[in-house]
Amino acid sequence: MCGIVGYVGKQQAYPILIKGLHRLEYRGYDSAGLALINANDELNVYKTKGKVVNLEHFVEGKDSTGCIGIAHTRWATHGEPSQINAHPHYSKTKNIALIHNGIIENYADLKKKLQAKGIEFVSDTDTEVLVHLIEYIYQRDKSNMVTAVQVALNQVIGAYAIAIIDRNNPETLIVARKSSPLVIGIGDGEFFLASDASPIVEYTKQMIFLDNDEIAVINLKSGVKVKKLNNVEVTPEIKEVMLDVGQLEKGGYPHFMLKEIFEQPECLINCMKGRVNVDLNDVKLAAIIDNKQTLLNANRIVILACGTSWHSGLIGKYLIETFCKIPVDVEYASEFRYRNSVISPNDVVIAISQSGETADTLAAIELAREKGAFVYGICNAVGSSIPRVTHTGSYIHVGPEIGVASTKAFTGQVTVLTMFALALAKAKNIIEHDKFLEMIKELSLIPDKIREVLKHNDKIADLAKIFTYARNFIYLGRGYCFPVALEGALKLKEISYIHAEGYPAAEMKHGPIALIDEEMPVVFIATQNSLYEKVVSNMQEVKARKGRIIAIVNKGDHKLQELADYCIEVPATVDSLEPLITSIPMQLLAYHIAVCKGKNVDQPRNLAKSVTVE
Ligand code: AGP
Ligand code: GLU
Repeated sequence: MCGIVGYVGKQQAYPILIKGLHRLEYRGYDSAGLALINANDELNVYKTKGKVVNLEHFVEGKDSTGCIGIAHTRWATHGEPSQINAHPHYSKTKNIALIHNGIIENYADLKKKLQAKGIEFVSDTDTEVLVHLIEYIYQRDKSNMVTAVQVALNQVIGAYAIAIIDRNNPETLIVARKSSPLVIGIGDGEFFLASDASPIVEYTKQMIFLDNDEIAVINLKSGVKVKKLNNVEVTPEIKEVMLDVGQLEKGGYPHFMLKEIFEQPECLINCMKGRVNVDLNDVKLAAIIDNKQTLLNANRIVILACGTSWHSGLIGKYLIETFCKIPVDVEYASEFRYRNSVISPNDVVIAISQSGETADTLAAIELAREKGAFVYGICNAVGSSIPRVTHTGSYIHVGPEIGVASTKAFTGQVTVLTMFALALAKAKNIIEHDKFLEMIKELSLIPDKIREVLKHNDKIADLAKIFTYARNFIYLGRGYCFPVALEGALKLKEISYIHAEGYPAAEMKHGPIALIDEEMPVVFIATQNSLYEKVVSNMQEVKARKGRIIAIVNKGDHKLQELADYCIEVPATVDSLEPLITSIPMQLLAYHIAVCKGKNVDQPRNLAKSVTVE
């Protein structure tokens, strides 16, 4: 799940490629490289281990000229992160260079065959087989490069987005995709290429989103020609992509993650715009209106997602079961796809994904569709793969999320799930009018209440200093706030590398309580909801064993201020909307602890924003 960038035009490619790689670093950042063809038709490949900035230093003083080039920021799947394994990879003659995002599953088999023909491999990657295979077929068949790519890809099993440049054809980029994303930007006499729209928007808004099994030839003079791997010509649809470059910058914040945490009030207003109408007392989602009968007929809803999106799915279960009285199962997409999951045509699947590119979620959707389920997507990245394979869906509209640790996408997903549950409950006619009105009113107040919580940022930063050196953390919550505990623990481990576990508070006594001693910090989500007294009892149990308690409490809760060691106050709301408020201090706590530890908050080790491999 790397980032791919490419350019062909009249400008120097190098600065465009480097800027693009920086924008895509969220997708992977263990090594980076680029290939350029200069005015003498020489093909130069530069690559380094580590971040894009290392590549920039490496290229300094070398020939970085050329109006055509491809570049890659890697997240290793095969072969350690190293200079040799970084992309681009050269072919044997060094006439061709190739970059790849994805996994070639039958690479070992192909490699053996190519080695038997005398081709030597220099890297441990699966990718290298592609470039050798393409050149081998090109020379063997004496065909043209596009046909060679086509023949080669027909032998490949796996997932890929690839881009190729050939020094004998210095005005052409050849690209192809299967399961990994690829976008082509159409400028004025120039063309751009990237894994998503973010490196392209500042140059052009006209884009082609390549589909699976498509191969595109991008030529400076003749433009973009697309065909399927089976040779059928395709007329590509050019879309206008509205993305503001400002949204892709840090805007004065030290990290994207902090910016994204602070953006949440605004993001949720955007998410609810045109959907929650306080004056008319209504909640509308176009996808529910358009598919009302299918949704009303649902026997069961199955939510499929990974990571943070899975946590929001769990909150979705509580919401949908409460308001719509439809049974809901929440499954990790990766488990769903490899077990004998039972899906019937009357099931509705909700697939949740910020990136819209998660390989496990995509594969799970395909499986559910094969079994006849109707699939509803909840995604953030507009034009990404998941919205294109679902029957319908709702975007969360929170803008690009760059920080690898998801924050605003989580609250955006929970907001959409809340609107989904309310709109469907109304369509089913099973929600009391007063309750419906109360929910609309409370939902519309959430952005302001989040602003209140954000005012505690400095206090939470101070608290983080006390816990910087903790080795473990436990997060506890109940009801709607149990998934918030899971999400709080995930945030902390992702960016601070402190081991953390989330549990339903009452489950603690069935095992985790053995871990409690005077060194164990325990974060309680202890707001005054219907389970409040029960959570307080669980807190007493921790206190009795000398655990150090950090409690998220409602304003003015003096009882817990005495019981807990540290309290963070949040405004009250109805039980079902509490996750939207209580998740904010979790995000800030994880953020500040990671900053105190000097960790790379936006690009934590071993992770990537878009997990396009299984
Ligand atoms: C969140 O902080 C994570 N980095 C990760 O768990 C993420 O939520 C997961 O990979 C799913 O991604 P998606 O929402 O883009 O499908
Ligand atoms: N499988 C390739 C590698 O390990 C590409 C990984 C990626 O998508 O970054 O080099």
